[in-house]
Amino acid sequence: MKFFIDTANVEEIRKAHELGVVAGVTTNPSLIAKEGRDFFETIKEIITIVGDVPISAEVISLKADEMVEQGKKLAALSPNIVIKLPMTTEGLKATSVFSKLGIKTNVTLIFSSTQALLAARAGATFVSPFIGRLDDINQIGMNLIKEIADIFRIHGIQSEIIAASVRHSAHVIEAALAGSHIATVPYKVIESMTKHPLTDAGIEKFLADWEGAKQSQF
Ligand code: E4P
Repeated sequence: MKFFIDTANVEEIRKAHELGVVAGVTTNPSLIAKEGRDFFETIKEIITIVGDVPISAEVISLKADEMVEQGKKLAALSPNIVIKLPMTTEGLKATSVFSKLGIKTNVTLIFSSTQALLAARAGATFVSPFIGRLDDINQIGMNLIKEIADIFRIHGIQSEIIAASVRHSAHVIEAALAGSHIATVPYKVIESMTKHPLTDAGIEKFLADWEGAKQSQF
């Protein structure tokens, strides 16, 4: 399973990129709004930071023809831009147009496997089932990832599953075991995944022993 970073914060993207683990970036209108910056300027800066990985940028219109218009403007910024579209009938129409044009798409706000299957058949490059928001309404978000992964495997579907709405590191492990191709993860979750108390205790002990042995300096 690959990692995308789920943020529009360029500093977080820069820090995660330096770790060498980021295979893509996802944004959404809420994440863009949180930064209080111009949308296009933000996306352009993200392109300069991460270079040649897929960067999802979301359209705002709810009408297919306008989604196509907005998506084309975003796609013109870089061949790495992935047009993020809502899982609606209009979103599917636009997905199908982009698929024929060879422009990558990410169908978002997926909460059922039938939605994922339709998005894949419309030609979506990526489908984004939201785990955390299902958990929030007392459903088991991870069951959806498992179901979609099984369906895609059985039918040889090439669309990649992005486990989205990831809230903590247990979601990451479960998504990997459930067969998700990608997890899109907030920076704080990536950071928390690097940590273990035994790692910290081990470093402290190694350094204390080294000091005690009075070794020459590096
Ligand atoms: C990513 O594609 C989604 O927009 C994002 O993961 C949603 O996360 P949230 O449910 O925490 O807002």
